[in-house]
Amino acid sequence: MKQNRLLVAVIFFSLFTWSCSSTISQPSDPEQNAGIKGLKEYYKDYFDIGVAVSKRSLTTDEAGLILHHFNSITAENDMKMGPIHPGEDQYNWRAADSIAAFAKKNNLKMRGHTLVWHKQAPRWFFTHANGDTVNKEVLMQRIKDHITAVVSRYKGTIYAWDVVNELIADSPDQLYHDSPFIRIAGEEFIEMAFRWAHEADPDALLFYNDYNEISATKRAKIIQMIKKLQEKGVPIHGIGLQGHWAISEPSYAQLESTLNDFSQLGLRLHITELDISVYPKEHQSRERNASDTDTAYTAEKEKLQTEKYRMIFELFRKYKDHVQSVTFWNISDRHSWLDDFPVRNRKDYPLLFDANLKPKKAFWEVVNF
Ligand code: GLA
Repeated sequence: MKQNRLLVAVIFFSLFTWSCSSTISQPSDPEQNAGIKGLKEYYKDYFDIGVAVSKRSLTTDEAGLILHHFNSITAENDMKMGPIHPGEDQYNWRAADSIAAFAKKNNLKMRGHTLVWHKQAPRWFFTHANGDTVNKEVLMQRIKDHITAVVSRYKGTIYAWDVVNELIADSPDQLYHDSPFIRIAGEEFIEMAFRWAHEADPDALLFYNDYNEISATKRAKIIQMIKKLQEKGVPIHGIGLQGHWAISEPSYAQLESTLNDFSQLGLRLHITELDISVYPKEHQSRERNASDTDTAYTAEKEKLQTEKYRMIFELFRKYKDHVQSVTFWNISDRHSWLDDFPVRNRKDYPLLFDANLKPKKAFWEVVNF
């Protein structure tokens, strides 16, 4: 009798906790997407469809949209050097852990972004406590410790890492950006970053990630760097093409030669940060001025953007043997980093879902093939 009562209590308790967890923490599909097949379904025979997220976005209605359309996520900012490693002995895992837990719980793949990048790197990384710049030996040890700690922590959750981000300069007469990693450690850090990441997780796929690879000049420099790494037997498995593009670029020919040139290297290609700005491409950040008054999503902008999305996905499909993942940089037009870049406080509409999470015309062009 006593045993029966205990059994009933256990069943009740389990049902209660199950119903709480399924109503409270399971994001629901946004009604604007009811009856619409997810992007990931349309592309299941082609590549993964990913999205960059913040910890906060996973607690809003955007979480439902993510689960409906995407099968891969990337932390937009929370795994970068500055946010995750703000002091020499201080790691800030909270936001990154909660995004990784969301991926695990919902069976999403996760890309790691990013291990070594001169932007959003904390100042302490390059200096001693007295402010003096560290030497190569100290910096290399710090890079190694950072990579080992971060990659080991997400071993088994993150299947691919952007190991080095944006190192190659855009201008024809310069090979690398003016990066303190290069200035202090020289190019040896590139090779070692890949080797240390591989040591920490031999199963993770390791990428070099960059923007503006549609420029033939910049692409040639990237290819040269990668060939050198390959010749030395460095564990590098792929190239990340950020894909921050716009209504004005890339052309079909530019993107096709980019995909074609990179595919010759025998590496995987991931489109890692896709968005199509509705303004002509500008690479440098600037203040908003009198010419920036037209910020509405006009029919003309919609048409140009829709056409650009159609064209690039046609090429991604054509190169499906090489392109294995396409990740959008942000979820919907409700918010994107392009609202503040290159022009501060100028609204952009770069994604496939509008501010109400409703699929845009561009969405239908991408899935109707
Ligand atoms: C670059 C970086 C990203 C991000 C974007 C802007 O592309 O790789 O991490 O900072 O800029 O959001």
